[in-house]
Amino acid sequence: MERRDFIRVCAASALGLGNQGTFAAADAQPRRYARTQLTDESGQPLRASRLTAGENYVFHYPFEGTPCFLINLGKATTQNVTLKTGDGASYQWPGGVGPQRAIVAYSAICSHQLTYPTRQISFISYRDRSTASKISKPNMIHCCSEHSEYDPAAGAKVMGGPAPQPLCAILLEHERATDTLFATGTLGGEMFNTFFSKYEMRLAMEHGSPARAQQRVTGTTTVTALAKFCKQQVRC
Ligand code: FES
Repeated sequence: MERRDFIRVCAASALGLGNQGTFAAADAQPRRYARTQLTDESGQPLRASRLTAGENYVFHYPFEGTPCFLINLGKATTQNVTLKTGDGASYQWPGGVGPQRAIVAYSAICSHQLTYPTRQISFISYRDRSTASKISKPNMIHCCSEHSEYDPAAGAKVMGGPAPQPLCAILLEHERATDTLFATGTLGGEMFNTFFSKYEMRLAMEHGSPARAQQRVTGTTTVTALAKFCKQQVRC
């Protein structure tokens, strides 16, 4: 459990918000980070309408070292999906954003054993009908490490494999007048502290130092197609 979640659960318990005196997990509240504009690789504001449906895009948020997927699913997502973290805290994922409510973002760190896309290789990605296989169902985010599968149209709910909880959702805002996108926070089970300690050495090499990887993203964050971001995509 992330420290903030632990404190929140303890606070709820101390205030008598638990279930009739028995210990109950508090609801998982959204965690707000800096409102950050998504840009293309030339630094220009990313236009939501330019996202290719079914393509995997990567950006980093809320820390310099934590990758996220941005996906235009091509059709409206389910709205207000009730989900639970691995600790039993419930939360409601609001749904996709954009004109069709089809654009979603999630932490790209698998909730099982924290596989994530690096510049060299990615074992986890969204698979549409054209890239799904006998192992990975279409229109799911699939992790080829041990085959956890998440439904991005339903808050990254776990659909298969050993994952103990959904991928942590990244909260997005779509500014209709400019067709631009902003990340504003996270919702669900964050695993960033565990991620930073597990991959301390690797993240230091990738980002220059552990402190740099843990630096909060502010202002803008660059969106890159996964195919360009990493050299090899493993598709099981
Ligand atoms: S790390 Fe993704 S399924 Fe095990």
